[in-house]
Amino acid sequence: MKETFYITTPIYYPSGKYHIGTAYTTVLADAIKRYNKLREKETYMLTGADEHGQKIETKAQESNKTPQEYVDEMAKMAQELWTKMDIQYNDFIRTTEERHEKIVQKIFDKFMEQGDIYKGEYEGLYCVPCETFFTQTQLIEGKCPDCGREIVPMKEEAYFFNMKKYADKLLKYYEENPDFIKPEYRKQEMINNFIKPGLEDLCVTRTTFDWGIKVLKDPKHIVYVWLDALTNYITALGYMSEDETLFNKFWPANIQVVGKDIARFHLIYWPIFLMALDLPLPKTIFVHNWIMMKDGKMSKSKGNVIYPETLIERYGLDATKYFLLREIPMSQDGIFSPEEFIQRYNFDLCNDLSNLLNRTVSMVNKYFNGQVPEYNGTPNEIDQEIEKISKEQIKKFETLFENFEIANSIQEIWNLVARTNKYIDETMPWALAKEEKTEKLKSSMYHLIENLRKIAILIKPIMNETSENILKQIGVQDENLKTWKSLNEYDKLKHIKVIEKGEPIFMRLNAEEEIEYIKQEMKK
Ligand code: ME8
Ligand code: MG
Repeated sequence: MKETFYITTPIYYPSGKYHIGTAYTTVLADAIKRYNKLREKETYMLTGADEHGQKIETKAQESNKTPQEYVDEMAKMAQELWTKMDIQYNDFIRTTEERHEKIVQKIFDKFMEQGDIYKGEYEGLYCVPCETFFTQTQLIEGKCPDCGREIVPMKEEAYFFNMKKYADKLLKYYEENPDFIKPEYRKQEMINNFIKPGLEDLCVTRTTFDWGIKVLKDPKHIVYVWLDALTNYITALGYMSEDETLFNKFWPANIQVVGKDIARFHLIYWPIFLMALDLPLPKTIFVHNWIMMKDGKMSKSKGNVIYPETLIERYGLDATKYFLLREIPMSQDGIFSPEEFIQRYNFDLCNDLSNLLNRTVSMVNKYFNGQVPEYNGTPNEIDQEIEKISKEQIKKFETLFENFEIANSIQEIWNLVARTNKYIDETMPWALAKEEKTEKLKSSMYHLIENLRKIAILIKPIMNETSENILKQIGVQDENLKTWKSLNEYDKLKHIKVIEKGEPIFMRLNAEEEIEYIKQEMKK
């Protein structure tokens, strides 16, 4: 039986078009899914839409729609974007679906019966856009610590979840499971900022609006959006339904990807809810940083928003994904700028990768009529060296990628690209041809094609189409030569013919023009 691999993204608020920052979480999750599929696991990826709450009720009213009409449109828009971005999700859950609502009610009832949820009164400071109550000390300059907007005082009869009861258990879990939170520094943040100062019980119902899941035994109460939303990761698998096949197969999740702004909900409340349900916790929750603009957050009012469609339509999906995944490090935010985007395109994709492919294909055509020489089994010193480096780079990529250091892992692929370009200069095929050193020339061509094949496989989780293009141009058709397992093999490339004239996979762009183009698009 195959090892299973369950990965989730957060379910998104239906807030109109997603900008590249928002799309990042899903692009990242998709790359991780594809990698694990290539590692022959049975993968399952969940994404979806977070459709309840006061904010949505208000937005729908503003656009003269019922909330249901509003979220239907938004969900469609989201799915269209994911299709355009070739995101291979297995399920798209919407919190307005019956399969979800019914189970949230059951979960709420169970918590009440167990005494984890009790009735009280809530008085506090509320941020409407974030649907979150804050204490005075959590505010930053009197404003919402998450979004910086105005806070309003609110008071209502409400149900509470007894978080305090689980605080010690959670801390102990953190300690005993070093892989649970990545990167490590997020764990320390949770402990210092929220758990050590004392966890407060969480208010888990609202009565001031309608658009949400009703508490069965007390229907004037609506289940708090975060309790509603977080459970999507298990309701989507059929937890507590008549058919728990998927749940039994895939839970606990291998990895749950979330952005830093929702770390607290996923690292504190979510594990506590799972503990209260007596369910195993996800193996890893990975908290990624954000994509920022040079002048801070992306926002329509600043006129600095960049949408994935803009980049995809002009530069292609792969260049867009490459940039996103290459630009956000583990330990800090990444920056989007038109200059940086075009530079990466021209240097990494065009100069380094596309030119390596072009030079190699044309040399194999020139020296061997397109026929790729076979591996001769006795590599000389230079060739031994390039084989050793390839193996090392593959290993480095795997180690970093599996630790979710995605940007660094991609850097290692490009180190291999650079080293392979250097190998051309070292072996000087043109000189070998002139001096009729046929064996050496054969070996040089063989190693170039072999490295391109490996590079194509390594970039597959990130740039699927480019990967296919490279393999096509170097004439690799056999599916067995496209597998991850085949990465370290050296004697399987036989009877391979490169194409006669390949189109460059990335063409050099006029930097000035394109930077201007992107800037104009951002202002629209
Ligand atoms: O948070 N850079 O949904 P959402 C990188 N519904 N990532 C960014 C980003 C940026 N500039 N801006 C947003 C929600 N994100 C809740 C989740 S889960 C049970 C409920 C990320 O639509 C953000 O961090 O506001 C989050 O991971 C995702 O986009 C969706 O955000
Ligand atoms: Mg948000």
